Amino acid sequence: MRRAVCPGSFDPITYGHIDIIARASAHFDEVVVAVLENRTKSSLFTVAERIEMIRATTSNLPNVTVDSWSGLLVDYCKSNSIQAIVKGLRAVTDFDYELQMAQVNLQGSGVETMFMATAPTHSFLSSSLVKELAHYGGDVSTMVPPSVNEALKLRVAGK
Ligand code: PNS
Repeated sequence: MRRAVCPGSFDPITYGHIDIIARASAHFDEVVVAVLENRTKSSLFTVAERIEMIRATTSNLPNVTVDSWSGLLVDYCKSNSIQAIVKGLRAVTDFDYELQMAQVNLQGSGVETMFMATAPTHSFLSSSLVKELAHYGGDVSTMVPPSVNEALKLRVAGK
């Protein structure tokens, strides 16, 4: 079985993530969307909330499952017989950091990272941008699914 992981913070999931997950799911028997810790970021939503949002917005993809992990990504891959890490690349600015992570992960475990070009319509999109806009009452309805938009509105209102 060909199994891949789409790892990330997903705080929250955006249409950019969903596009990559959907396209990855066409190339593997199973794709696990794994919510992992990024020690350089603080989060708006709990891991349980993020998992729920991912489940709700990828439920149309039968070979996609959702999980979380609090250790190294390569250890998750080893424990779950995952052969590939799939990541979206938005722009050259992503590349340096993503290449470093891919090389460290390859060296440490032999797990391959496959980069997919983000669709041009999503090339500017990030969870951080979505949170910033939502914080100031900006319209993010073209960037996240309706359920995520509602969750964002509640959270920035302090609920
Ligand atoms: O969505 P993000 O925040 O860009 O995702 C980054 C993430 C969570 C995939 C990365 O920080 C990660 O893999 N964290 C798990 C810990 C780990 O394996 N770190 C070493 C990477 S070389």
